[in-house]
Amino acid sequence: MDKLAIIKRPVQDELEELKVLFDGSLTSGTPLLNQVLGYIKKRNGKMMRPLLVLLMAKVYGRVTQATYHGALALELLHTASLVHDDVVDESDKRRGQQAVHVVFDNKVAVLVGDYMLSTCLKHSAATGQVSMVDLVARLGQDLSEGEIIQLANTNNTDFSEAIYFDVIRKKTAALFIASAQMGALSGGASAEEVRKAALFGELIGIAFQIKDDIFDYFDSPGLGKPTGNDMLEGKLTLPALYVLNHHPDEGMKELALRIRRLEATPDEIAEFVDYVKVHDGIAYAEQVMYDYRNRALEVLPEVMDATLRSALEAYIDFVIERKK
Ligand code: IPE
Ligand code: IPE
Ligand code: MG
Ligand code: MG
Repeated sequence: MDKLAIIKRPVQDELEELKVLFDGSLTSGTPLLNQVLGYIKKRNGKMMRPLLVLLMAKVYGRVTQATYHGALALELLHTASLVHDDVVDESDKRRGQQAVHVVFDNKVAVLVGDYMLSTCLKHSAATGQVSMVDLVARLGQDLSEGEIIQLANTNNTDFSEAIYFDVIRKKTAALFIASAQMGALSGGASAEEVRKAALFGELIGIAFQIKDDIFDYFDSPGLGKPTGNDMLEGKLTLPALYVLNHHPDEGMKELALRIRRLEATPDEIAEFVDYVKVHDGIAYAEQVMYDYRNRALEVLPEVMDATLRSALEAYIDFVIERKK
């Protein structure tokens, strides 16, 4: 059985139900809006966040109406953030098809993303639990804050790993934290259990983004989105930061700063990518990712059904072994 099948096994029926609800939430009586929403739901994502919500609900209790609304809210927020992210990053492909802003335009992408965010809020409210609405509100703040810190960081002249981790904790891990918390809360977990679930979400969320940043260093036709984009938009990620901090090469530091200022040519970026690879930047980032994997394994709840344990272990493996 492949990893995804093992992950889905304990929540197969609930996931199918959730997909129907998700598609149903992306409709409108306004023709243009409905057309764009129809385009978005042509391609599902991997549904990693809803899967985590469902699994955590089962670990700590059972899947309830609040679980479904919570999972929907988070997948809507995630999908909206991708529509907006591709505008911000000027990236032209997503989930194997052209990005929304390419098929329509930036205005439409921003507005439809906003519509989906409001639909997310509706589902948060439908959980009937203020704590869940609060969770989604804080999450929205974290996602935006992470993106803004990332943007501002292109003006920095040091190569701080601390800022990198702050950015990925907010822009990516926050969604995994919220998913784990949402699932645990909706399943009836205690405050201590919710705290543990959040830590699990944080560790796999950070590993997830490190994996994503490694993807960017390689051609990857099956990924469904472009690679090589990070440096084109001035972003230096973990492999580069490590090499810059561990090799006293002033010329490469200068080049890295010019990459941040968007002044480097494609040939110079290619030269820098080779430099990072040759000096073990990828190997280092993988090592850090494996450390997060191991820590996530350690914080798995002690007591749970064997199928659920296998699913969560497979989830952790999938995050770091995934091909897309
Ligand atoms: C993409 O997330 C955004 C990042 C955090 C890198 P996913 O890779 O989970 O996207 P989909 O939902 O499967 O398309
Ligand atoms: C990941 O952003 C997190 C969000 C989408 C908010 P990136 O810009 O690094 O991710 P991809 O590579 O476009 O999916
Ligand atoms: Mg981005
Ligand atoms: Mg992007």
